[in-house]
Amino acid sequence: MSAGPQLLQGELHLEGVSLQEIAARFGTPCYVYSRAALTAAFEDYRQALTGRDALICYAVKANANLALLNVFARLGAGFDIVSGGELQRVLAAGGDPAKVVFSGVGKRQDEMRAALEAGIHCFNVESASELDHLNQVAGQLGKRAPVSLRVNPNVDPKTHPYISTGLKTAKFGVAFEDALALYRRAAALPHLHVQGIDCHIGSQLLDPAPAAEAAEKILGLVDTLAREGITIAHIDIGGGKGIRYRDETALSATEYLAPTLKALAGRKEKLLLEPGRSLVGNAGLLLTRVEILKPGSEKSFAVVDAAMNDLMRPALYDAWHDIQPVAPRAGQAHAYEIVGPICESGDFLGHERELALAEGDLLAIMSAGAYGMTMSSNYNSRARAAEVMVDQGRMHLIRQREDTAQLFALESVLPH
Ligand code: LLP
Repeated sequence: MSAGPQLLQGELHLEGVSLQEIAARFGTPCYVYSRAALTAAFEDYRQALTGRDALICYAVKANANLALLNVFARLGAGFDIVSGGELQRVLAAGGDPAKVVFSGVGKRQDEMRAALEAGIHCFNVESASELDHLNQVAGQLGKRAPVSLRVNPNVDPKTHPYISTGLKTAKFGVAFEDALALYRRAAALPHLHVQGIDCHIGSQLLDPAPAAEAAEKILGLVDTLAREGITIAHIDIGGGKGIRYRDETALSATEYLAPTLKALAGRKEKLLLEPGRSLVGNAGLLLTRVEILKPGSEKSFAVVDAAMNDLMRPALYDAWHDIQPVAPRAGQAHAYEIVGPICESGDFLGHERELALAEGDLLAIMSAGAYGMTMSSNYNSRARAAEVMVDQGRMHLIRQREDTAQLFALESVLPH
């Protein structure tokens, strides 16, 4: 895909905008996103779905910044949400509630109510109890809730165990064997309206075969339901398409979806997708500055001003993110542990990176657009990073850096 960072006059630029200048203006650590890259990733999906009745519901959890949601809303995207908070963000960003699907194993009743009042497209229901709760809440509001069941097709997505979600052992979805009985129950409940079927088997999937296998199993179920008079209007195949972090071969949406679309050929149901990472992951980077170089006999450390609280993926999943100097310097490269200042041995961003560094240098931690800022925390009372979006040669601050007073503004001490 175009739109990645490029070296211009010996310095990294994103969409022609100098990362040095962004750091000078907004400080570090700072997430930087490219609108062109977000748009290109969305158009890649749109192209793959040409001629089909399809809705791309961006998975908000990957990156929930309002400006980014607004870019997708303007492109006509729908949204996959997993909380009332995400619903509020989508609405605040100008998203169309009629294009929202609500996933998640533990929806609270107040969240169900808010989503019903907003008029979302569908609830992806994940248990028998949830059907009952939703029926009750919808009844109180005098509405019928549109539902899909998230069915566990029990296929192995061949990815990291923490992000595999479609296996029998997962907490997500309902077992394939139980789905028919639950659909019958849903169809019989007065305040529910069976609308679709849903599955999501995992994340960072590089092999397209498991998704197609899941789609085939789902289709079998759709046909069984039709024979019982339960009509399924849409099939939601979830998200999960992987991206290139290091040397992975990431497929285009057309390539990745080909086997799934083949399985769906000739079907009349509307198709829904819930991509997250593949729309935003490579559209963002985390800009950080080297504070301290600490050479050692065993290991040398470059302590930077970003940490595991800003980008948790390396600490949590041992995830590998490319780390590039913003202004590569001549001189001898050394193997550095790129670490943050947090008091945890797990606070690293990269191991053994061969870099020529001096204190004060800027580094770009690549592929940080997905599950970066959304998984950040205030651990060690660190204020969260700023976020910037570049668009047509200009930089826009889309989230101010937090200040420390905001971190404890909601706290109070005991009375005397
Ligand atoms: N739909 C559902 C129901 C999901 O649970 C997820 C992600 C998605 C869609 C979007 O999946 P994607 O297209 O992004 O793969 N924090 C982890 C990833 C967790 C994914 C959770 N569910 C990471 O940083 O790798």
